[in-house]
Amino acid sequence: MSMSPEEVQTLRDLMEFEAARTAPPEGFPHLPDIPAGRYIDPRFFELERQHIWKKSWLLAAHIDELPDPGCFLLWENADQPIVLIHGDDGRINAFYNTCRHRGAPVVTEKSGQKKRFACPYHGWVYSREGELMAVRDPQDFSELDLSTRGLKSVRCESFGNLIFVNLDADAPSLLDWLGPIADEWEEFQFDQCRLAARHVFDLDCNWKIAMEANTEVYHVRSIHPTTVAPILDDRRNVNTLYPNGHGRMVAPTPRGKAALDVMPVSPDIAQLDTVGEIGRSCTQSYGLFPNWVSPLSQFAIPPILFWPNGIDKCRMETWTMAPPWKEGLRPSFWAENDGKELSAVLKEDTQFGEKIQKSMESYGFEGVPLSYQEARIYHWNQAADLMIGIDNIPCELRVEQVIGDDWIYPNDPRREQMKKG
Ligand code: FES
Ligand SMILES: [Fe+2]
Repeated sequence: MSMSPEEVQTLRDLMEFEAARTAPPEGFPHLPDIPAGRYIDPRFFELERQHIWKKSWLLAAHIDELPDPGCFLLWENADQPIVLIHGDDGRINAFYNTCRHRGAPVVTEKSGQKKRFACPYHGWVYSREGELMAVRDPQDFSELDLSTRGLKSVRCESFGNLIFVNLDADAPSLLDWLGPIADEWEEFQFDQCRLAARHVFDLDCNWKIAMEANTEVYHVRSIHPTTVAPILDDRRNVNTLYPNGHGRMVAPTPRGKAALDVMPVSPDIAQLDTVGEIGRSCTQSYGLFPNWVSPLSQFAIPPILFWPNGIDKCRMETWTMAPPWKEGLRPSFWAENDGKELSAVLKEDTQFGEKIQKSMESYGFEGVPLSYQEARIYHWNQAADLMIGIDNIPCELRVEQVIGDDWIYPNDPRREQMKKG
């Protein structure tokens, strides 16, 4: 199901509303500065580790990476040793890759396929469902109940072909977490899209510095004058703030130009027929809390993920999902140079990361004043503090909760203001 004609029209009207306004919309709050310490203070880094990375749904794998029963994949991006295993029942399960005997890694290869999982240290054997099936010399153990010594499992749920992991046993379901976005993504057929590429790049800056470059269009005219600016009308960008810290931007192509005029694509490239007008003619990108940013189009779904690697370093993962392609027509979007080099646009986006990190660490930097256009960044920070627990955060590192629910989807005062003209 693609977006209703009414919603398409409302978005078009909102684009004109944004282009015409001479100030932020009526009632939109002033955004206080984001404290610099959130990018450089080890206390905040630790709070992120204990709360954000421990309680959020995190993208871990695509089903193409473990297509059959017994296939497994090591996943350590959340700084925990996790192994994903395709069970005999077709479900993907996640476990700590930690033998219940003396903690050896049960799986040592990055990926593969096994009938059973034998620990390399003393040979305890686990099934594809993580149950402890046998131990060596069982007569030497007294009262070892195998049924309570299976691999410790981790929450693992799928959205289409994507597999997400959550380290918090009490987290809401993945669908509840996604909220309205799950419906909005139906037209992109996540259950059909295949994995075309997945690469990792090391960056020398805090993970949020790298991510934030991808969650506003305020930088487009300066950073992307010849790459993005010609295909995106940043004055007509419409941001939407969703529950749980997620966000969306939709920006049309510059007036009078059709999407395919500005970005010609070979007619042979596979497309998703279900993608509607907005997806086809606009730059549409979602931020999924905490660390996913992805444009979506009829040609590709290329999520970018940001993972901390210490407080001042991060790993940027670039994924490309694409509609099933014919052999010989493997899409090359964002996978040029086979992961050795970033795409031109991402090079532009990341070029200042290291210098920004250094200047944020300097005595000269105090905080970040954000514009209305950059409100998605503020919204993310509010959600982060709610997840951490405001009382757990030192006063000087908190953000004020100024964006109220009246600005969170489905609420949006702009829709009323627009009608009043
Ligand atoms: S640590 Fe795995 S069998 Fe001993
Ligand atoms: Fe950018």
